[in-house]
Amino acid sequence: MSLPSNHTALVVVERGKVAIKQQALPECADDEVLVKVKAVAINPTDWKHIDWVLQPGQSVGCDFSGTICAMGKNAKNKGFSIGDPVAGITPGPAIKPNNGAFQEYVAAHTDNIWKKPDILPYESAAHMGGVSLSAAAFIIIWSGASGVGMAAIKIASLAGMRVITTAAEQNKALLQKLGAEAVIDYKDPEAVQKVKQWANNAGCGAIKLAFDCISEHDSTQKCCDIVGQGGKVIRLDTMTPSPNLDAKGAEVEQILLYTALDPKNVDHKALAEWNRMMPSLIESKKLTKDDVPLKLFHGFEELPEAIDYMRKGKAHGEKVVVVLQKN
Ligand SMILES: NC(=O)c1ccc[n+]([C@@H]2O[C@H](COP(=O)([O-])OP(=O)(O)OC[C@H]3O[C@@H](n4cnc5c(N)ncnc54)[C@H](OP(=O)(O)O)[C@@H]3O)[C@@H](O)[C@H]2O)c1
Repeated sequence: MSLPSNHTALVVVERGKVAIKQQALPECADDEVLVKVKAVAINPTDWKHIDWVLQPGQSVGCDFSGTICAMGKNAKNKGFSIGDPVAGITPGPAIKPNNGAFQEYVAAHTDNIWKKPDILPYESAAHMGGVSLSAAAFIIIWSGASGVGMAAIKIASLAGMRVITTAAEQNKALLQKLGAEAVIDYKDPEAVQKVKQWANNAGCGAIKLAFDCISEHDSTQKCCDIVGQGGKVIRLDTMTPSPNLDAKGAEVEQILLYTALDPKNVDHKALAEWNRMMPSLIESKKLTKDDVPLKLFHGFEELPEAIDYMRKGKAHGEKVVVVLQKN
C-alpha cells in the first residue's frame, strides 16, 4: 500500500487554539505500526494539552481505532498484520510532535494497541482500552499497609486492576496476598523511580492513576511525580494540606468518605450500590475475614489505648478493632 507523504491532522496553532492542517506523516519506528485512523475518543487530557502544554505545530489526541497500514521491522513478530483492525493509545506529541491520534495516520507501539474483534464497531473500540480504561487498569496505591490502602488493594485487584503499592518491607507478603503485584518501600529515596520502572516493565508505559492512602508528609507529591501530566491523584483530604504541592500537571482530587454518606451528594449512590454488593462479595469469599489482620482491643476501657495506638503510628498492616461486647 502506498502512503502519502502528507495527511490531515488537528494541529495547535497557538496556545489554546487548533486548526486542521496538512502535515508530514509520523515516522513508523521498528516496534511500531502505522494505523489508518477510523475513530478517536476525546479525553480531558486533550483540551488540557491544547490549553496548557502543546506548542504551535504539535498535533493532538490519544485514543484511536483503525487499521494497520504499515509495520516497523520488529512489529512483524508481535502477531499483527497489515489490514488488522486495532485500537489503542498514543502518548501523542509528548514523544513525537506530529503523532497525536487526531489525524489520518498515527504510529503506535505494538504494546499499546489491541486487535479489535469484528463484532465491535470502531467507534466503541476507540474509547475501550483508551485513556480512561487503561489508566484505570494500572494503579499506584501509595501506603498500601494503611487501613484504606489494604482495602483499596483488594478492591482494585478484584476489579481487575494491576496494582503496585508502597509499604515497609515487613508488609510485603501481606499486600501481595491482597493482590498487589509489586511493593516498593516508600522510604526508599528511589521509590518514585522504581514505581515508574515497574510500570514500564509491566507494559503500561506510565501509570496515570494514583490513590494516596496516607495523604501525609510528601505522599501526594510523590504520587504526582509518578502520574505526571494528564494523570490523576486521588487524595484523602485529611486536614493536612499540602501547600507547596507541585502537581506536575496532574489532577489532584480530594475525597472525603463523609460526603458519600449524605444522600444529597452525588457519590452517595455509588456507596449505596457498594453496600448492596458487600454481602455477595463476602458469601462468594471474594472478600474474607482473613484479608486484613486485626489488632484487637477489648472493652470500653481499652478504647483510649486503642486510639492512642493509632495516634502514635503503631498500626502497621492491620486494622485496629475494639471488641466492646462479646457475642
Ligand atoms: N478522606 C477520607 O474519607 C478518609 C477516610 C479514611 C482515612 N482517611 C485518612 O487516610 C489516612 C490513612 O488512614 P488509615 O486509617 O488507612 O491509616 P493507618 O492504618 O493508620 O495507616 C498506617 C500505615 O501508614 C503507613 N505510613 C505511615 N507513614 C507513611 C508515609 N509517609 N508514606 C506511606 N505510608 C505511610 C504505614 O505503613 P508501613 O507499615 O508500611 O510503614 C502504616 O502501616 C489518614 O490520614 C486518615 O485520616 C481519610
